[in-house]
Amino acid sequence: MDAPSLPAPLSVWMDSTAGPDRSGNALPGAVEVAVIGAGIAGLTTAYALAREGRSVLVLDAGPVGGGVSGHTTAKLTAQHAEKYASLRRHKGPEAATQYGQDQSAAIDWIERTSAELGVDCAFTRTDSYVYTTDPGRLTDLRAEAAAAADAGLPAEFVERIDLDVPAAGAVRFTGQARFHPRRWLLGLAAAVEKLGGQVAENTRVLRVDERPVPVVHTERGKIRAEEVVIATHYPLLDRGLYFARLEPVRDLVVAGPVPEGSDGMFLDADTHHSVRYLEHNGERLAIVGGEHYRTGEEVDVEARYVRLAEWARRHAGLTGVTHRWSAHDLSTLDSVPYVGRYHPVSRNLWVATGFGQWGMSGGTAAGLLLADLIAGRENQGSRLYHPDRFDLRSGISLARTNFTVARHFVGDHLRAAGADAEFATLGMGEARVATSGASVVAAYRDHEGVLHRRNAHCTHLGCVVAFNNAEKTWDCPCHASRFGVDGSVIQGPATRPLPEA
Ligand SMILES: Cc1cc2nc3c(=O)[nH]c(=O)nc-3n(C[C@H](O)[C@H](O)[C@H](O)COP(=O)(O)OP(=O)(O)OC[C@H]3O[C@@H](n4cnc5c(N)ncnc54)[C@H](O)[C@@H]3O)c2cc1C
Ligand code: FES
Repeated sequence: MDAPSLPAPLSVWMDSTAGPDRSGNALPGAVEVAVIGAGIAGLTTAYALAREGRSVLVLDAGPVGGGVSGHTTAKLTAQHAEKYASLRRHKGPEAATQYGQDQSAAIDWIERTSAELGVDCAFTRTDSYVYTTDPGRLTDLRAEAAAAADAGLPAEFVERIDLDVPAAGAVRFTGQARFHPRRWLLGLAAAVEKLGGQVAENTRVLRVDERPVPVVHTERGKIRAEEVVIATHYPLLDRGLYFARLEPVRDLVVAGPVPEGSDGMFLDADTHHSVRYLEHNGERLAIVGGEHYRTGEEVDVEARYVRLAEWARRHAGLTGVTHRWSAHDLSTLDSVPYVGRYHPVSRNLWVATGFGQWGMSGGTAAGLLLADLIAGRENQGSRLYHPDRFDLRSGISLARTNFTVARHFVGDHLRAAGADAEFATLGMGEARVATSGASVVAAYRDHEGVLHRRNAHCTHLGCVVAFNNAEKTWDCPCHASRFGVDGSVIQGPATRPLPEA
């Protein structure tokens, strides 16, 4: 499998589900709850509140589930790498137990609710494994198995796994699950509508005023709301300093046919290669993730896809690649999501973000927690996920994250010192960032030979974007906004396109 044999980027989830077009839906002037973001966190919140009789409006800049939730690998598991030993060490055994209970309850909720609603989201129970090929890491994995079992989870250490890797040992969680995330989210959106709520696609939110009453400003008009939930993955608003507290990590994914075999879900504790299976059009596919990097770093993404496809062939038995895609998720400073009030003095503004590659159960747990908080109900988890918590470990991570951003802010401006005369030599499909007079220009030559020139300063906070040669996008290394070669916003926190240059 070499580079030319790889298909254009498209996730198997988006490829295999057509949804109704909700772009033209009229916007109401006022609602009780406006949820911004139709991913798993936003739609779970919206459904849980609509079921309680609240009037709910869900707004999304793209299609339902078209964000990270439609570009995931969709393992539904409480096994989040080596989470429980770390939680126990840094936050205590109660926090580990609370976290495990919340994830398990979220998985059970999806199983129960999809059955109640009649949503065929291919929910299938299966075991999950985190393995190592390094005998020197076995002590860590044994400690993880013990911490997870202590937190009440169905965890144990095992010596063998049913994957073609030289595993030295693994932690197994029994009775976890896999599913089809977009089918689930389309089902949730339809359920919200059936309960009298509204879902508006292709409606970008530009800003939210909190005072005197919350008002959501969109490209298509404004809406008054009693409560506003920001479930936009990267929080849309610069209040609350989220941009200094979230770290974007991008992963690549390939999928393709495999022979009959095991049905577990696997994660390499060290390289983070991930494997799960899916029945798709009468075929058995393996979905394989890996090759993570910080979004916007200047890496050869195409070469990474080729490496991942080769890993998938050797270790998961892929006989070809039918789909490939990539996405990034956000990690918080202490690896626990931020769910709750948007900032210390916000009354009606809520947030759910920072699922650290585990937002299928984490985003569902967040939606259920937000529904409780908005309804004024007591929820045991509210302290653990409180967005304003701070501890020493967070402080160290904060310094590291912001050093990386500062390095990009200063260093990338200096590096973009080439002359714009170089653009004339760009071949088709090639891109470059260079100075042109007083500005920095991001230029891409398309396959018709047309040169697209955009201002290279990200419209969020001004860092210089870098080219992603696989997706053909301009990605920001600071907080992971992504733009098309025509400057359009693909992913926030930016809400404005890169201007022409
Ligand atoms: C490659 C990869 C594999 C993963 N695999 C797993 C896994 O196996 N298991 C697991 O548990 N987790 C996994 N995750 C993590 C999980 O997919 C995410 O944590 C989760 O999907 C995040 O959901 P969300 O609702 O927060 O964000 P999203 O799904 O991105 O939803 C946010 C929505 O907000 C919309 N939006 C953004 N800005 C605006 C705006 N200004 N106006 C209106 N709408 C806006 C977006 O269009 C988007 O639809 C994986 C992540 C990645 C990247
Ligand atoms: S995303 Fe913040 S500066 Fe680009």
